Amino acid sequence: MARKPLLSGNWKMHHNHFEAIQTVQKLSYLLTDADYQAVDVSVHPPFTDLRSVQTVLESDEVPVALGAQHCHWESKGAFTGEVSPPMLAKLNVSYVIAGHSERRDLFGETDDMVNRKVKAIFAAGMTPIMCVGEHLEEREAGTTEERVSSQVRAGLAEVGAEQAAELVIAYEPIWAIGTGKTATTEDAQAMCAEVRGVVRDLYDSSVATAVRIQYGGSVKPTNTAELMAQADIDGALVGGASLDPDDFSRIVQYHRGE
Ligand code: 13P
Repeated sequence: MARKPLLSGNWKMHHNHFEAIQTVQKLSYLLTDADYQAVDVSVHPPFTDLRSVQTVLESDEVPVALGAQHCHWESKGAFTGEVSPPMLAKLNVSYVIAGHSERRDLFGETDDMVNRKVKAIFAAGMTPIMCVGEHLEEREAGTTEERVSSQVRAGLAEVGAEQAAELVIAYEPIWAIGTGKTATTEDAQAMCAEVRGVVRDLYDSSVATAVRIQYGGSVKPTNTAELMAQADIDGALVGGASLDPDDFSRIVQYHRGE
Protein backbone atom coordinates (compact mmCIF):
# COMPACT_ATOMS: atom_id res chain seq x y z
CA MET A 1 0.00 0.00 0.00
CA ALA A 2 1.35 3.41 -0.89
CA ARG A 3 2.17 5.56 2.11
CA LYS A 4 1.98 9.33 2.53
CA PRO A 5 4.83 11.33 1.02
CA LEU A 6 7.65 12.09 3.46
CA LEU A 7 9.31 15.51 3.48
CA SER A 8 12.48 15.45 5.56
CA GLY A 9 14.73 18.30 6.63
CA ASN A 10 18.37 17.27 7.06
CA TRP A 11 20.00 20.13 8.94
CA LYS A 12 23.50 18.65 8.64
CA MET A 13 25.94 20.49 10.98
CA HIS A 14 23.76 23.57 11.42
CA HIS A 15 21.72 25.05 14.30
CA ASN A 16 22.74 24.75 17.95
CA HIS A 17 20.01 23.61 20.34
CA PHE A 18 18.69 27.13 20.94
CA GLU A 19 18.39 27.74 17.20
CA ALA A 20 16.87 24.29 16.78
CA ILE A 21 14.12 25.05 19.30
CA GLN A 22 13.28 28.32 17.53
CA THR A 23 13.27 26.59 14.14
CA VAL A 24 10.85 23.82 15.11
CA GLN A 25 8.62 26.23 17.01
CA LYS A 26 8.37 28.49 13.98
CA LEU A 27 7.79 25.49 11.71
CA SER A 28 4.99 24.30 13.98
CA TYR A 29 3.25 27.69 13.70
CA LEU A 30 3.44 27.54 9.91
CA LEU A 31 2.19 23.97 9.37
CA THR A 32 -1.46 23.03 9.79
CA ASP A 33 -3.53 19.89 10.32
CA ALA A 34 -4.25 19.83 6.58
CA ASP A 35 -0.49 19.60 5.94
CA TYR A 36 -0.04 16.74 8.39
CA GLN A 37 -2.98 14.92 6.80
CA ALA A 38 -1.46 15.25 3.34
CA VAL A 39 2.18 14.45 4.13
CA ASP A 40 4.57 13.16 6.78
CA VAL A 41 7.29 15.54 7.94
CA SER A 42 10.58 14.86 9.71
CA VAL A 43 13.42 17.05 10.95
CA HIS A 44 16.96 15.75 11.43
CA PRO A 45 18.92 18.04 13.74
CA PRO A 46 22.48 17.39 14.99
CA PHE A 47 22.79 14.98 17.94
CA THR A 48 23.22 17.80 20.47
CA ASP A 49 19.78 19.19 19.59
CA LEU A 50 17.77 15.97 19.65
CA ARG A 51 16.63 16.08 23.27
CA SER A 52 15.61 19.76 23.03
CA VAL A 53 13.69 19.24 19.79
CA GLN A 54 12.03 16.11 21.18
CA THR A 55 10.81 18.11 24.19
CA VAL A 56 9.31 20.86 22.02
CA LEU A 57 7.61 18.42 19.63
CA GLU A 58 6.15 16.33 22.44
CA SER A 59 5.12 19.09 24.83
CA ASP A 60 3.43 21.10 22.05
CA GLU A 61 2.05 17.91 20.42
CA VAL A 62 3.54 18.81 17.05
CA PRO A 63 3.15 15.86 14.64
CA VAL A 64 6.57 16.36 13.09
CA ALA A 65 8.71 13.21 13.39
CA LEU A 66 12.11 13.46 15.01
CA GLY A 67 14.99 12.19 12.87
CA ALA A 68 18.72 11.66 13.27
CA GLN A 69 21.44 12.05 10.64
CA HIS A 70 23.66 9.12 11.52
CA CYS A 71 24.29 6.31 14.03
CA HIS A 72 26.62 3.42 14.69
CA TRP A 73 25.36 -0.13 14.11
CA GLU A 74 26.36 -1.53 17.49
CA SER A 75 24.12 -1.05 20.53
CA LYS A 76 26.98 -0.12 22.84
CA GLY A 77 30.72 -0.45 23.22
CA ALA A 78 34.09 1.21 22.90
CA PHE A 79 33.27 3.44 19.90
CA THR A 80 34.35 6.92 21.00
CA GLY A 81 32.17 9.64 19.54
CA GLU A 82 29.49 7.33 18.19
CA VAL A 83 25.79 7.12 19.08
CA SER A 84 23.82 3.87 19.00
CA PRO A 85 20.37 3.12 17.55
CA PRO A 86 18.87 2.25 20.98
CA MET A 87 20.08 5.65 22.30
CA LEU A 88 18.22 7.37 19.48
CA ALA A 89 15.14 5.22 19.97
CA LYS A 90 15.04 6.31 23.63
CA LEU A 91 14.65 9.90 22.40
CA ASN A 92 11.67 8.80 20.30
CA VAL A 93 13.59 9.26 17.09
CA SER A 94 11.54 7.82 14.22
CA TYR A 95 13.83 8.09 11.19
CA VAL A 96 17.61 7.76 10.91
CA ILE A 97 19.52 8.69 7.76
CA ALA A 98 22.01 5.98 6.76
CA GLY A 99 24.71 6.35 4.14
CA HIS A 100 24.32 10.02 3.30
CA SER A 101 26.84 10.84 0.56
CA GLU A 102 28.66 13.19 2.94
CA ARG A 103 29.16 10.27 5.36
CA ARG A 104 30.24 8.00 2.50
CA ASP A 105 32.63 10.51 0.90
CA LEU A 106 34.00 12.40 3.92
CA PHE A 107 33.91 9.73 6.63
CA GLY A 108 34.52 6.54 4.67
CA GLU A 109 31.16 4.83 5.07
CA THR A 110 30.99 1.77 2.86
CA ASP A 111 27.99 -0.12 1.47
CA ASP A 112 28.63 -2.79 4.09
CA MET A 113 28.53 -0.23 6.94
CA VAL A 114 25.33 1.24 5.51
CA ASN A 115 23.78 -2.25 5.42
CA ARG A 116 24.72 -2.87 9.06
CA LYS A 117 23.24 0.46 10.04
CA VAL A 118 20.00 -0.20 8.13
CA LYS A 119 19.56 -3.49 9.99
CA ALA A 120 20.46 -1.95 13.36
CA ILE A 121 18.05 0.97 12.87
CA PHE A 122 15.21 -1.47 12.10
CA ALA A 123 16.21 -3.65 15.06
CA ALA A 124 15.83 -0.63 17.34
CA GLY A 125 12.30 0.00 16.02
CA MET A 126 13.10 3.02 13.84
CA THR A 127 12.96 3.60 10.08
CA PRO A 128 16.12 4.07 8.02
CA ILE A 129 16.32 6.69 5.29
CA MET A 130 18.96 4.98 3.16
CA CYS A 131 20.73 7.36 0.80
CA VAL A 132 22.06 6.41 -2.61
CA GLY A 133 23.42 8.51 -5.45
CA GLU A 134 26.11 8.91 -8.06
CA HIS A 135 29.07 11.25 -8.47
CA LEU A 136 29.31 13.54 -11.48
CA GLU A 137 32.05 11.36 -13.02
CA GLU A 138 29.76 8.33 -12.79
CA ARG A 139 26.95 10.23 -14.42
CA GLU A 140 29.27 11.39 -17.20
CA ALA A 141 30.61 7.86 -17.67
CA GLY A 142 27.06 6.54 -18.02
CA THR A 143 27.32 4.30 -14.93
CA THR A 144 24.68 6.02 -12.79
CA GLU A 145 22.16 3.14 -12.90
CA GLU A 146 24.85 0.57 -12.12
CA ARG A 147 26.19 2.59 -9.19
CA VAL A 148 22.82 3.35 -7.66
CA SER A 149 21.39 -0.13 -8.10
CA SER A 150 24.47 -1.68 -6.51
CA GLN A 151 24.10 0.68 -3.52
CA VAL A 152 20.43 -0.33 -3.14
CA ARG A 153 21.24 -4.06 -3.36
CA ALA A 154 24.16 -3.85 -0.93
CA GLY A 155 22.24 -1.71 1.54
CA LEU A 156 19.34 -4.17 1.59
CA ALA A 157 21.39 -7.38 2.00
CA GLU A 158 19.67 -9.64 4.56
CA VAL A 159 16.81 -7.18 5.06
CA GLY A 160 13.47 -9.04 5.03
CA ALA A 161 10.48 -8.00 2.93
CA GLU A 162 8.45 -6.79 5.89
CA GLN A 163 11.16 -4.33 6.91
CA ALA A 164 12.01 -3.37 3.35
CA ALA A 165 8.39 -2.29 2.88
CA GLU A 166 8.86 0.24 5.70
CA LEU A 167 12.10 1.62 4.32
CA VAL A 168 12.70 5.08 2.90
CA ILE A 169 15.31 5.37 0.15
CA ALA A 170 16.65 8.80 -0.74
CA TYR A 171 18.05 9.18 -4.23
CA GLU A 172 20.48 12.09 -4.04
CA PRO A 173 22.70 12.74 -7.07
CA ILE A 174 25.86 13.93 -5.30
CA TRP A 175 26.58 16.67 -7.84
CA ALA A 176 23.19 18.23 -7.02
CA ILE A 177 23.75 18.49 -3.25
CA GLY A 178 24.26 22.03 -2.03
CA THR A 179 25.22 23.18 -5.51
CA GLY A 180 21.96 24.74 -6.62
CA LYS A 181 21.87 22.18 -9.44
CA THR A 182 18.88 19.85 -9.48
CA ALA A 183 18.59 16.75 -11.60
CA THR A 184 16.06 17.43 -14.33
CA THR A 185 12.64 16.26 -13.26
CA GLU A 186 12.84 13.54 -15.92
CA ASP A 187 16.21 12.29 -14.62
CA ALA A 188 15.05 12.38 -11.00
CA GLN A 189 11.91 10.43 -11.91
CA ALA A 190 13.88 7.94 -14.04
CA MET A 191 16.34 7.22 -11.24
CA CYS A 192 13.64 6.90 -8.59
CA ALA A 193 11.85 4.46 -10.93
CA GLU A 194 15.14 2.59 -11.32
CA VAL A 195 15.48 2.34 -7.51
CA ARG A 196 11.91 1.04 -7.25
CA GLY A 197 12.67 -1.50 -9.96
CA VAL A 198 15.64 -2.81 -7.98
CA VAL A 199 13.42 -3.18 -4.89
CA ARG A 200 10.87 -5.05 -7.05
CA ASP A 201 13.62 -7.41 -8.27
CA LEU A 202 14.85 -8.01 -4.72
CA TYR A 203 11.37 -8.51 -3.21
CA ASP A 204 8.09 -8.10 -5.08
CA SER A 205 5.65 -5.49 -6.38
CA SER A 206 3.95 -4.91 -3.07
CA VAL A 207 7.25 -4.07 -1.35
CA ALA A 208 8.22 -1.88 -4.32
CA THR A 209 4.93 0.01 -4.01
CA ALA A 210 5.24 0.41 -0.25
CA VAL A 211 8.85 1.65 -0.12
CA ARG A 212 9.06 5.44 -0.10
CA ILE A 213 11.59 7.01 -2.44
CA GLN A 214 12.71 10.56 -1.78
CA TYR A 215 14.58 12.84 -4.16
CA GLY A 216 17.31 15.02 -2.64
CA GLY A 217 19.63 17.67 -4.05
CA SER A 218 18.83 21.40 -4.12
CA VAL A 219 15.12 20.92 -3.39
CA LYS A 220 13.54 24.35 -2.96
CA PRO A 221 10.04 25.76 -2.53
CA THR A 222 10.00 26.54 -6.24
CA ASN A 223 10.82 23.05 -7.55
CA THR A 224 9.11 20.79 -5.02
CA ALA A 225 5.67 20.53 -6.64
CA GLU A 226 7.09 19.50 -9.99
CA LEU A 227 9.34 16.87 -8.43
CA MET A 228 6.55 15.55 -6.21
CA ALA A 229 4.21 15.20 -9.20
CA GLN A 230 6.41 12.40 -10.58
CA ALA A 231 5.10 8.87 -10.27
CA ASP A 232 8.10 7.45 -8.41
CA ILE A 233 9.01 10.40 -6.19
CA ASP A 234 7.37 9.94 -2.78
CA GLY A 235 9.11 12.67 -0.87
CA ALA A 236 12.14 14.91 -0.55
CA LEU A 237 15.28 14.96 1.57
CA VAL A 238 16.00 18.65 1.91
CA GLY A 239 19.29 20.15 3.12
CA GLY A 240 19.90 23.89 2.87
CA ALA A 241 16.27 24.92 2.36
CA SER A 242 15.17 23.04 5.50
CA LEU A 243 17.18 25.33 7.80
CA ASP A 244 14.71 28.16 7.32
CA PRO A 245 11.23 27.32 8.59
CA ASP A 246 9.61 29.63 6.04
CA ASP A 247 11.25 27.80 3.14
CA PHE A 248 10.76 24.34 4.62
CA SER A 249 7.08 24.98 5.36
CA ARG A 250 6.58 26.08 1.75
CA ILE A 251 8.24 22.87 0.60
CA VAL A 252 5.95 20.80 2.85
CA GLN A 253 2.97 22.78 1.55
CA TYR A 254 3.69 21.94 -2.12
CA HIS A 255 0.53 19.81 -1.97
CA ARG A 256 -1.63 22.93 -1.67
CA GLY A 257 -0.78 23.69 -5.29
CA GLU A 258 -0.42 27.43 -4.62
P1 13P B 1 20.68 20.38 -0.35
O1 13P B 1 19.18 20.42 -0.31
O2 13P B 1 21.34 21.48 0.47
O3 13P B 1 21.19 20.28 -1.75
O4 13P B 1 21.12 19.02 0.41
C1 13P B 1 20.55 17.82 0.00
C2 13P B 1 20.93 16.81 1.00
O5 13P B 1 22.04 16.34 1.06
C3 13P B 1 19.90 16.38 1.95
O6 13P B 1 20.33 15.28 2.67
